[in-house]
Amino acid sequence: MNKLKNDTFLRALLRQPTDYTPIWLMRQAGRYLPEYCETRRRAGNFMNLCKNPRLACEVTLQPLARYDLDAAILFSDILTVPDAMGLGLYFAEGEGPKFERPLREEWEIRNLAAPDPGVELRYVMDAVAEIRRALDNSVPLIGFSGSPFTLACYMIEGGASEDFRTIKAMLYDRPDLLHHVLEVNAAAVTAYLNAQIECGAQAVMIFDTWGGALSHRAYKEFSLAYMQRIVAGLKREHGGARIPSIVFTKGGGQWLEDIAAIGCDAVGLDWTTDIGAARRRVGDCVALQGNLDPVALFAQPEKIAREACAILDAFGPGSGHVFNLGHGISQFTPPEHVAALVNAVHEHSRKQRQI
Ligand code: CP3
Repeated sequence: MNKLKNDTFLRALLRQPTDYTPIWLMRQAGRYLPEYCETRRRAGNFMNLCKNPRLACEVTLQPLARYDLDAAILFSDILTVPDAMGLGLYFAEGEGPKFERPLREEWEIRNLAAPDPGVELRYVMDAVAEIRRALDNSVPLIGFSGSPFTLACYMIEGGASEDFRTIKAMLYDRPDLLHHVLEVNAAAVTAYLNAQIECGAQAVMIFDTWGGALSHRAYKEFSLAYMQRIVAGLKREHGGARIPSIVFTKGGGQWLEDIAAIGCDAVGLDWTTDIGAARRRVGDCVALQGNLDPVALFAQPEKIAREACAILDAFGPGSGHVFNLGHGISQFTPPEHVAALVNAVHEHSRKQRQI
């Protein structure tokens, strides 16, 4: 195994010293980039893009060609897992993800089974391997999955939802049924992430986009407990290298200490949390990833730089910070503004280390 040319991201996740604060962006390969739109047009639609390892590799590399980013993230989607379970994922133009066969009946839930990542999700594994070859050890590759609860939201609601009324009714009326879905999802995600690690993912991230929609009492039982199970089942090493894990619950700021205690290496923060206070709360337990408001990227470059520096200063000196947005980048973001952010983070964090 060749040595990584830039391992700053992995070092920061493990809270080892770095020369500067590494940065990557959630959804860094996406519709704000004209070259992404062009490749997607050639693919025909989003799912064709995900299912074609050569094209998935092409779009993964696009943001790295433009910006000095410190990590690549596999181009795919969290909903490939329920698709592989047979729910029939499709994207209706302008409406976001939908399932042809959402889970509604008890018998459908009882029949649910974890897919074999080497078979039904072979195309993801092929993409991971192809991206690793193309990266040629320049920067590390992040693999990812949705959290069991976030996946269940889409599987049970059948698509995006404003109030999660179907899954929450099940949570209160039939917690046994929802627990069954979450158990299958946790087994599926563990196998899926471990397969990504075997194929070359050098860090993994669990996206819990909707955990923050749960009540205080429900969050731990229906979301965090299953992420804890996954983290406990992850391969911690591959090819002699540590494989760090990142857990991100959007809206999870109030549960930070609990999230930091599940055994992950880093916790992702959305933009509503003060990263300095977060650092004091988690102590030496985990690294932190975040947390610029993605909508700040619509401001002028000098204002973006000011916000980025404020976050770096709030985190303070020392390692253990991976800069990111607090959620995915908007498709309407001006691409030149991203360059201003990446450069500001690198420059300011280098200066911070000289003081
Ligand atoms: O970060 C990256 O660059 C890697 C790629 C990635 C995508 N989706 C590509 C994508 C990742 C990590 C995801 C995760 C994902 N997908 C999440 C969790 C993170 C989050 O944003 O909260 C969720 C909830 C999904 C489900 C999903 N897929 C949604 C809500 C959408 C957007 C629908 C829309 O039309 O806006 C998608 C589609 C999707 N996934 C796109 C991309 C680039 C846009 C699709 C397109 O090209 O039309």
